[in-house]
Amino acid sequence: MKTTIICFSPTGGVEKVAQLIANELKVAAPYDYTTRGYEVSFSSDDLVFFCFPVYGGRIPTPMYDRMNYVHGNGAKAVLVAVYGNRAVEDALLEMSDLCLNRGFKVVGGAEMIAPHSIDKRFGAGRPDASDIAALNKFLASLMAKQELTPVAMPGKRPYKEYKGIPVYPTSSSKCSGCGTCAQECPTEAIDPGDPQHTDKSKCISCMRCVSMCPFSQRRVPKAMQLAASAALIKMCAGRKEPKFYL
Ligand SMILES: Cc1cc2nc3c(=O)[nH]c(=O)nc-3n(C[C@H](O)[C@H](O)[C@H](O)COP(=O)(O)O)c2cc1C
Ligand code: SF4
Ligand code: SF4
Repeated sequence: MKTTIICFSPTGGVEKVAQLIANELKVAAPYDYTTRGYEVSFSSDDLVFFCFPVYGGRIPTPMYDRMNYVHGNGAKAVLVAVYGNRAVEDALLEMSDLCLNRGFKVVGGAEMIAPHSIDKRFGAGRPDASDIAALNKFLASLMAKQELTPVAMPGKRPYKEYKGIPVYPTSSSKCSGCGTCAQECPTEAIDPGDPQHTDKSKCISCMRCVSMCPFSQRRVPKAMQLAASAALIKMCAGRKEPKFYL
């Protein structure tokens, strides 16, 4: 059985979890589908980990585009939802439905915590040693299982209505115009010829442009950031623990 890891990780939290899985299973580094998809076909002998962030209790909308490049042909899938210490809600079920449509058999799932990309004070320091130990225990059980059979993911249909967090980064007046943010944006929301211009209807508030700007000139306006952080305080309170489905 060949194991492959595919991840969508705008600000690196998901990528960190995906890399932990790669290290533990001693397989190739995760394939990064954050800015675009790559055509790939699997077969029933393959095991594929899909690692993705939770946005508003759902999967990020670009996952639908990225999965168009991935052909399951009966391969087994393990779904790894990474979230910012609020909640996973319908994200695993939505990803499971998408994987079934792409020809996969979903044989396991995980919920892992990472810093919240809108305000990294929530989920700071995660995944920590206890999270990693729990993840490794799950991976050992998965690999030791005699037969990987379909596993139901948590969540409800119809999925929760996505109510995005209204945070839209902008480029400062000191922006050099280097274009990195436009190249790295998962939804092509930033005009490469004029990075001051962001198409809000395309922006998914993923914060990748902020984290990738080499000159720290891409930011969320202060009042907007304060409002978003205030809304998250209650919802992200209290330590959430990883969960596994096998
Ligand atoms: C627009 C948006 C919506 C989010 N919604 C949720 C959510 O519903 N529940 C949660 O716990 N975390 C939520 N998060 C936090 C991310 O799931 C978390 O930070 C994840 O690790 C981000 O992955 P990345 O660091 O690879 O970009 C949200 C983040 C963003 C940007
Ligand atoms: S413009 Fe929006 S979608 Fe694009 S990287 Fe920035 S936050 Fe993400
Ligand atoms: S990456 Fe930063 S400096 Fe470069 S165009 Fe974007 S905001 Fe401007």
